Amino acid sequence: MEAYWITSGTGGGADDRGRIVQITSNSGIEIQAMALVEVQNVSKIYSSGDSAFGVRSHNVVRAVDDVSIDIHAGETLGLVGESGSGKSTLGRLILRLVEPTSGSIRFEGRDLLVASSAEMRRLRRDMQIIFQDPFASLDPRFRVEDIIAEPLIIHEDRNPTFRKGDERWGTQASSERRARVIELLRAVGLDESIMRRYPHEFSGGQRQRIGIARALALRPKFIVADEPVSALDVSVGAQIVNLLARLQREYGLTYLFISHSMPVVHYLSTRIAVMYRGKIVEIGSTGQITERPQHPYTRSLLQATPEIAV
Ligand SMILES: Nc1ncnc2c1ncn2[C@@H]1O[C@H](COP(=O)(O)OP(=O)(O)OP(=O)(O)O)[C@@H](O)[C@H]1O
Ligand SMILES: [Mg+2]
Repeated sequence: MEAYWITSGTGGGADDRGRIVQITSNSGIEIQAMALVEVQNVSKIYSSGDSAFGVRSHNVVRAVDDVSIDIHAGETLGLVGESGSGKSTLGRLILRLVEPTSGSIRFEGRDLLVASSAEMRRLRRDMQIIFQDPFASLDPRFRVEDIIAEPLIIHEDRNPTFRKGDERWGTQASSERRARVIELLRAVGLDESIMRRYPHEFSGGQRQRIGIARALALRPKFIVADEPVSALDVSVGAQIVNLLARLQREYGLTYLFISHSMPVVHYLSTRIAVMYRGKIVEIGSTGQITERPQHPYTRSLLQATPEIAV
């Protein structure tokens, strides 16, 4: 069956979330198309418990508040908003690194919240995260090769011909792994000669490239990039943004790109979602959001970024 995709703003069968509801094919058959990621009415509420002195605290934070959002295969959805608006929490909820208080999250139509641990393990290969701080996200005790190979080892499909412990199994697996690490290093613009070195020997931009290589190791479909360039100098950040754009084209990746930088989001995103106090207050194509913002908060974000304000 052919796939029919329409992005928000092209009209037709898309609803207010840019979700494709129903599309009629040439043969007149109605097709229900699916988003890669479907977030429905998801909330995450943090509440602090009783204090040590027996005084009940009612400190409740609605980090993510009834959010519904779809992410389409092949797009970059930019997620912007002020500090504390819930961007990272939403990204982590989608990867099930954080459990929601309520709502549902689907990946390729499969409900993550009811997935068995075996199914979740399979799904984890398809969904990865790139973190903001390349200094904190790489384990300083491991060599570059081991950092990039770790997801491969954790998720390795055992060769059924050789049992684990069989020396043929080990050598074959590790030489394949090394070849994959070399391939990944080259894909992110690094040289294989660095494999035996440690993270502290590298600059921020190089470390972020190592983190990206690690995220790509299992050939994921979907990547949450949580402020991946915020800790970097502008010129180094621009190189990483270009790298992410190239990798997306080469590997057909889908990104949720979290950033507080409107110019970066503007450059990279197909659509932009604006988050404010736990809610998505506005979502639309990059052109719509930057040229015809509807929500006052979106306008204030754009006014703070004169280079793309209209
Ligand atoms: N584990 C936690 N326990 C309690 N509160 C939390 C926890 N994680 C996040 N929060 C709160 O939830 C809200 C949203 O936080 P989140 O980190 O998602 O925001 P953000 O938009 O990513 O911010 P930033 O731009 O600073 O990264 C904040 O008020 C934060 O303090
Ligand atoms: Mg954050």
